[in-house]
Amino acid sequence: MIENKELVLLRPSKDLENKIMEYRQEFMQYNKNKNNINGSCSLHRFDSFDEWLDRVNICAADENLSTYKTITSTFIAVRKSDNKIVGTIQLRHTLTKELRDDGGNIGYAIRPSERRKGYATQMLSLVLEFCKELGLDKVLLDCDETNIASEKTMIKCGAIFDRNQDIPLPDGGVETVHQYWIYL
Ligand SMILES: CC(C)(COP(=O)(O)OP(=O)(O)OC[C@H]1O[C@@H](n2cnc3c(N)ncnc32)[C@H](O)[C@@H]1OP(=O)(O)O)[C@@H](O)C(=O)NCCC(=O)NCCS
Repeated sequence: MIENKELVLLRPSKDLENKIMEYRQEFMQYNKNKNNINGSCSLHRFDSFDEWLDRVNICAADENLSTYKTITSTFIAVRKSDNKIVGTIQLRHTLTKELRDDGGNIGYAIRPSERRKGYATQMLSLVLEFCKELGLDKVLLDCDETNIASEKTMIKCGAIFDRNQDIPLPDGGVETVHQYWIYL
């Protein structure tokens, strides 16, 4: 069990369906134009829970069928005091060339109503323990240059700045991401 005093990280399962879909709904209502749910295996794209759960399980089991071409573990962070889902976090077990340039090993989100309570920091720390158990010696994380909350979360978990990376956008523009390593 990956847990601390306050949170437990669980693999998605059918018995969490109602709570997971309610979590998804909160993101949909929060920002209708940009409702990406980081670290969730693209939960925002799935109206069907069962189809999403299949996708999560495929990505965790088969690197060839996985979105990122590496085994991908998705976790739901549940607050122990009331069993509320507070966030999602995903580990991409190996760094492909594509992930080295954009995305890194780990993605995460905290539901809008539970932000700024330290949960992202706790959730990332818990996944880093899982990374150590897997035998990883370092993980790459990145964030958009404007994402101060995510950058602070990484730094609080020991991240060390590596470089800036320019990502071409579909509209012809460029977005700069800050890349960090966490040594385990
Ligand atoms: C990034 C995110 C996960 C942070 O979650 P969180 O639970 O609010 O983060 P924490 O409470 O653990 O805070 C971590 C640090 O960031 C700071 N922080 C959090 N939100 C902030 C904000 N909006 N502006 C400035 N600092 C912020 C906190 O104050 C804390 O730093 P401190 O201890 O030095 O004060 C959350 O904002 C989120 O889900 N954003 C959308 C998804 C996303 O951007 N994911 C990351 C993609 S790279």
